[in-house]
Amino acid sequence: MARPATRFVCSACGHAEPKWHGRCPGCEAWNTLAEERAPAAAPGASRRGPSGARAMVPRRLADVEAEASVRIPTGIGEFDRVLGGGIVPGSLILLGGAPGIGKSTLTTQALGRLAGAGRRVLCVSGEESAAQIRLRAERLGAHALDVPVVTETDLDTVVATLEAERPEVCVVDSVQTLHAAQLDGAAGSVGQVREAADRLVRIAKAHAIAVILVGHVTKDGSLAGPRVLEHVVDCVLQFDGERERLYRTLRALKNRFGSTSDAGVFEMRGAGLAEVPDASAVFVGAATGAPGSAVLAAMEGSRPLLVEVQALVSPSELEPPRRVVNGIDRNRLALVLAVLGRHAGVGLGNADVFVNVVGGLRADEPGADLAVALAVASAARGVPLGPEGGAGPVACFGEVGLTGELRPVGHADRRLAEAARFGLRPVVIPDGSAGDAAPGPGVHPAATLRAALAAALPAARRAAA
Ligand code: TYD
Ligand code: MG
Repeated sequence: MARPATRFVCSACGHAEPKWHGRCPGCEAWNTLAEERAPAAAPGASRRGPSGARAMVPRRLADVEAEASVRIPTGIGEFDRVLGGGIVPGSLILLGGAPGIGKSTLTTQALGRLAGAGRRVLCVSGEESAAQIRLRAERLGAHALDVPVVTETDLDTVVATLEAERPEVCVVDSVQTLHAAQLDGAAGSVGQVREAADRLVRIAKAHAIAVILVGHVTKDGSLAGPRVLEHVVDCVLQFDGERERLYRTLRALKNRFGSTSDAGVFEMRGAGLAEVPDASAVFVGAATGAPGSAVLAAMEGSRPLLVEVQALVSPSELEPPRRVVNGIDRNRLALVLAVLGRHAGVGLGNADVFVNVVGGLRADEPGADLAVALAVASAARGVPLGPEGGAGPVACFGEVGLTGELRPVGHADRRLAEAARFGLRPVVIPDGSAGDAAPGPGVHPAATLRAALAAALPAARRAAA
């Protein structure tokens, strides 16, 4: 056989091999290699042979002209902030999220706003019929109905349409539905998704069309298939939240034109997604101060955010007992419970423990440990956190170490300022968080988890005595 016409591509990492392997040499995942046609036939993929190549003259970076990046603001403040100030013309943005989280809603709203501002936009949908899209748009206000839409899954047709229409911003919903006739693989396979991205990148750069690629994400959080896109696109946005809950967060995992530390908060309402510019107010307002409730001064990107962490502890008949989490990492809970038992005298070996971050938010940072520990300890003792008499919710942040020590986490000043803004007292923080400055009133630095418990749960000492 002269040249292999097919190759084997890993569905997890996109690594390609001429022969089949049980284990992907790229990412070491098992059974992920699938055969697909080698992409040599794809138009535009032709490469010049080594003999025909022309050497290039390198240029000093200082001599390269960089055009001031103009941005197209979508008018949705939270979205624009995460993008770094708006959409950069000609950029490729991957918007990932679980099905039903609101990706189509967000993109339709953004296109509607852009159309209302006189921008040329286009919505390409392979997921829904035009009538279904219209029904959604009816809920999203007048401008959403101005968005031109094509329902198509054939990649050639989509590219031709883009070339003819030359919109400034185009949404492709979703990249997993696009199908290139030149390739055998089913729509959504790694080869197809990558082919779609390659073709769209080329046309996006050639005609300064910003393309928002919508991509589905599996429940474990990885972009199914589109993970191979992450290095092709300029920007990877992740839309998170629990489908049954109201709140959604939008984060940039990668951004060539801005920081990856910003996050936007939205609320799903009857008329689409509403921005939640002051999310702390919403979440602290709902904090109960009941036993098992602690307020975490979290960081959502570069923005401080107060969220309530709730815990429930109940005697268990199960072996091993249940550990149920919502919004935090299960392994972090296991660690916190182990340290509570070993170093703080709160043993929970015979109890079911449930921990929930209220509002469907995720608190995936080590700084959440202390809030989890305090909420669980408070639930286990059945007494609310706070000074004698209970003056409302206690705020905290800090990482719990394996030896029972508390470790400082980033942005202590901003977290403290946010807690102060809402008058939360006391705030329990790891020793050394605030630098050399003397702690402000109501701020309790603690070196260990035991000391933090003593500061936040004075009643417990009496209960335990
Ligand atoms: P959708 O944008 O279709 O999600 P995705 O494209 O990520 O799969 O919207 C998902 C859910 O949002 C849907 O179950 C209905 C709900 N929804 C609202 O609550 N209010 C609204 O105004 C809209 C348009 C949708
Ligand atoms: Mg959708």
